[in-house]
Amino acid sequence: MDIATLSQWRSAEPRVLLVGTGGMLARAWERLLLQCSVPVVCPTLTELDLTQPETLKQTIVPGIRLVLNCAAWTDVDGAETKEAQALAVNGRGVEHLARRCREIGAMLAHYSTDYVFAGTASTPYRVDEPRAPLNAYGRSKAAGEVALQASGCRHLLIRTSWLYAPWGNNFVRTMTRLARTKPMLKVVNDQHGRPTSAEHLAATTLALIEKQATGTYHVTDGGQCTWYDFAVQIAAAANPQCRVEACTTAQFPRPARRPAYSVLDLSQTEALVGPMPDWRANLDDVIKRMEPVG
Ligand SMILES: NC(=O)c1ccc[n+]([C@@H]2O[C@H](COP(=O)([O-])OP(=O)(O)OC[C@H]3O[C@@H](n4cnc5c(N)ncnc54)[C@H](OP(=O)(O)O)[C@@H]3O)[C@@H](O)[C@H]2O)c1
Repeated sequence: MDIATLSQWRSAEPRVLLVGTGGMLARAWERLLLQCSVPVVCPTLTELDLTQPETLKQTIVPGIRLVLNCAAWTDVDGAETKEAQALAVNGRGVEHLARRCREIGAMLAHYSTDYVFAGTASTPYRVDEPRAPLNAYGRSKAAGEVALQASGCRHLLIRTSWLYAPWGNNFVRTMTRLARTKPMLKVVNDQHGRPTSAEHLAATTLALIEKQATGTYHVTDGGQCTWYDFAVQIAAAANPQCRVEACTTAQFPRPARRPAYSVLDLSQTEALVGPMPDWRANLDDVIKRMEPVG
């Protein structure tokens, strides 16, 4: 069953529905679909709440061919004390969504995280590596992956990491604001990963969908770095006078444990849609278009 191609979605009746309107990645999708002249249904949280299955039935109606799930409980530290709430959205919410998509024959594109892995590896995590999350958020996202894979719904499960965009709450915007207001920043240098531009993620997801890809893929920017490396690059653009110093995770304790190494292997994705641009190139592009950071 073909889920359709871009040209088929350019119908008067919307065929695409976006869950998580207003979030960082959802905004990237809205812009991309607008540029492609694809109409999209963007329900509010009241109209579509992943924890309220009856809202899914009312809003995700026959005729919808593709559901893009950008919604999640994304407060990693908050999930440590509110694991049940995180699980209700990231675990059971995905189960409800996959069931509804299967009922109406829609494809579900869903996002997960590098935090489903323990971070003890020293080479990039392949898509089929066993999940072993270190924190409550990771457990809730892992539960969503399991539910989706067991659902029988045609799906694309995309793991990503360290998301940033010109808008929303993200590390690039936070570091930009801090670099402009503080003479020195300390940033952890012992967590390794891959930053990901939300716009690049949406565009790559679209490319995968157009290739009729299903199953699990990893999508991030190319290259890899530590949060410190990432911050150095951001601060240099925001305020070269600001000094960035490296510190350890132990010196900067947070409620949720983070994986030390969560570099996602991109080989399967790159084989289908070509190489992922280096994170420095994507970052430069985002910095140029950054919305005011306040
Ligand atoms: N941010 C990252 O660094 C990162 C890294 C790896 C993976 N991911 C994954 O990438 C995806 C997109 O992340 P993001 O950073 O764009 O997220 P985000 O900016 O936090 O947006 C999440 C959206 O989901 C909505 N939402 C929360 N609970 C909901 C519910 N019960 N029903 C419907 N919508 C609900 C939120 O609404 P409210 O704002 O009203 O709560 C918000 O609009 C998520 O799956 C996330 O787990 C993100």
